[in-house]
Amino acid sequence: MGKMDDILREYGTDAAIISCPSDTLYLTGYDNPDCTIAAAGDELVYFTDQRYIEEARAAIDQDIDVRNGGMSDVCAHLNDCKVKAVAFDADKTTYSDYLALQKALCAKLVPVRGLLTEAREIKSSEELRKIANAQEITDAAFAEILPLVREGITEFELAAKLEYAMMSKGAKLAFDSIVAFGAHGSSPHAHRSDARLKKGDFVTMDFGARVDGYCSDMTRTVALGEVSDMQRNAYARVLAANIECVGAVRPGAICSDIDALARKILAQDGLDRYFVHSLGHGVGIDIHEEPTLSRRCGKPLAVGNVVTVEPGVYVEGMFGIRIEDMVVVSDGGCIDLTRSDKNLITL
Ligand code: GLY
Ligand code: MN
Repeated sequence: MGKMDDILREYGTDAAIISCPSDTLYLTGYDNPDCTIAAAGDELVYFTDQRYIEEARAAIDQDIDVRNGGMSDVCAHLNDCKVKAVAFDADKTTYSDYLALQKALCAKLVPVRGLLTEAREIKSSEELRKIANAQEITDAAFAEILPLVREGITEFELAAKLEYAMMSKGAKLAFDSIVAFGAHGSSPHAHRSDARLKKGDFVTMDFGARVDGYCSDMTRTVALGEVSDMQRNAYARVLAANIECVGAVRPGAICSDIDALARKILAQDGLDRYFVHSLGHGVGIDIHEEPTLSRRCGKPLAVGNVVTVEPGVYVEGMFGIRIEDMVVVSDGGCIDLTRSDKNLITL
């Protein structure tokens, strides 16, 4: 990360109050839903309560002072530091909290959006190691549950097996896994149900692990028994889009161009109209981060970005297909962290 006082200077402040859990985890490495960091220039003081203080003191580097306290202590500390302008999160601070801060602080309050978003886009080697560990568990879970993809299993049961496989390897879940059979797969983010798997169905599984606070994200679509020619052809086209777009990820490539490439490949079979979401998104502490591979993102990719490449085709009342890999932008190209086979697996 750039030095905190450089980031603050960009926003015209000399201090910040940081409470968003993914930002506090980013700054400290410790996952805590209830803490606040008071940044006065480069000096960070971490405030939490008795439920977390013992672990926080053990986990957080000595250059960050860890104290027992709440928001009134944060304000008293910043007043002691005689800061002049304090950045606060415009999106996550409630109006009543804002009024309380206004009362307690002897400094100007400056609303900011995404104070650490840009810093978090480029992953350090330690962050990349954690993301790769999460993906390794995700790939292992996929291999473990494939023999359970059998006629009659429900979406609830298969999702539970998938999540158990990840959690029993020491991971938390990056998000609620998506498991959808047959026509249900035409909802890209289908909620699992008690529907039972039958022959000729595609099975879409979108799932990820969270290891040391960092997420992975992958999707595979497999077939139970023989599927129709239409399904098979659509799968081949989605796979081609996935492979070509992974090949197009490199430093300097414009995010929206890669999204457009996926649409162009799908259009060769008239399938682009069934691709109803963006091609991909950044992954890190949050499952959805910057940069996004979407029409709206005109940014160039940079070494250290982690993004998903997840083309899909969703035909209402018939089937859904998505193939998602997670890649790290590296010198001259990218490294695909997803190792699971993406050729159509027929069970
Ligand atoms: N894999 C979940 C998502 O990308 O939203
Ligand atoms: Mn995704």
